[in-house]
Amino acid sequence: MADADQLRRETRELLEDLAALDRFGRDDSGGFTRLAWSQELLDSVHWAAGRMREAGLATEIDAAGNLIGRWEEGEGKAVVIGSHLDTVTAGGRFDGALGVLTGLEVVRRLRAEGFRPCRPIWVVAFMDEEGERFNSVMLGSRAFVGEDVPADEMERTDADRVRMGDAMRNWDREFSQISAAKRIQDVHCYVELHVELGPVLEAEGFDIGVVSEITGLIGLSATLRGVTNHAGTTPMVGRRDALVGAAEAITALRDSAVASATYMATVGSITTVPGGANAIPGACTFSIDLRATSDPGLQAARGSVNAILAQVCEAEGLTSTVTETYFLQPVPLDTQISDVLSRAAEREGLSYRRMSSGAGHDAMLLAPHVPAGMLFVPSVAGVGHAPEEFTADDDVARGAATLTSTIRELAS
Ligand code: GLV
Ligand code: MN
Ligand code: MN
Repeated sequence: MADADQLRRETRELLEDLAALDRFGRDDSGGFTRLAWSQELLDSVHWAAGRMREAGLATEIDAAGNLIGRWEEGEGKAVVIGSHLDTVTAGGRFDGALGVLTGLEVVRRLRAEGFRPCRPIWVVAFMDEEGERFNSVMLGSRAFVGEDVPADEMERTDADRVRMGDAMRNWDREFSQISAAKRIQDVHCYVELHVELGPVLEAEGFDIGVVSEITGLIGLSATLRGVTNHAGTTPMVGRRDALVGAAEAITALRDSAVASATYMATVGSITTVPGGANAIPGACTFSIDLRATSDPGLQAARGSVNAILAQVCEAEGLTSTVTETYFLQPVPLDTQISDVLSRAAEREGLSYRRMSSGAGHDAMLLAPHVPAGMLFVPSVAGVGHAPEEFTADDDVARGAATLTSTIRELAS
């Protein structure tokens, strides 16, 4: 392995790219907000496209807003390196961005060494991996693999009541054309580098994680309905307070996930109607994110949501409705690509372990169609989806070296 100083020198341009990306969507939290179809994301995509062209790639932004940089050498289907440039609200600097920019760095390195790939190499920044703005998680990679994107997604609105279909028009994209983004037929295999977003690699002292499977996800939107009335005149006993019901449900859900030890359950957003301080909330809508690495685990989580809501409605005199906003099966990744990644880490003299991913990634959409693999680099203190997300320069360097070696093998 190159020593740490040499690795850092080799990684200078990648680190500069990461710093350059900082100017897109930096917000008051100190983190980054580049939501799907926003101007901030568009600006970052245009900048990244320019960097891709400087590295000799042909670029396009497809019908789903995916940025694709193509090194059209060799023959046949492409080796695709992908991740995303969009973020959650007040997200971190590395989630997604590191994978895209390291993909670009790999191309620069391979070109600089005179490598002639036997097949094309593409670098892709997928649209809307996070899905926060319109509850449309992984829209870009879903379209890329040719999944039908349900027409009702176009009608989904963000917090400012902007429809997704209208937000797409700011990018000169029409929802009705989204199926034109299908490119999976041109893909040979897929590799994604990502920050772990969790504590395992750092805690156990490994340089690299080779991902064997990705958690399944269910997204729900639950609404509890009771009766709105005056805060000062309505007796405390007998109220039908939707927010009190939600509070009980959220706590019970957390407790059930702790007891199960097989699934995760998170409520991350909540609104009430009418929403004034002096009125009993007659309705409360909240998100529920469920995760498990097995299908039975996911189903157990879903079952516990039903049971908890029924119990709370009974106790508090409420009614409930639940709609599913996303569903992604747990996905095993390709063992051969994982072997290539492991060999690459070994060649670079790095320690690695196989592990599962508790975060969702674009690789989940690609994996059922083509051999797909992922590598993780350590996250300091396991922080993700927060401004404090951090990965050290040396770990960025190790990831870049491993991904370069991986792609060299896959395109030889
Ligand atoms: C994507 O980042 C997810 O796991 O929610
Ligand atoms: Mn994320
Ligand atoms: Mn991500």
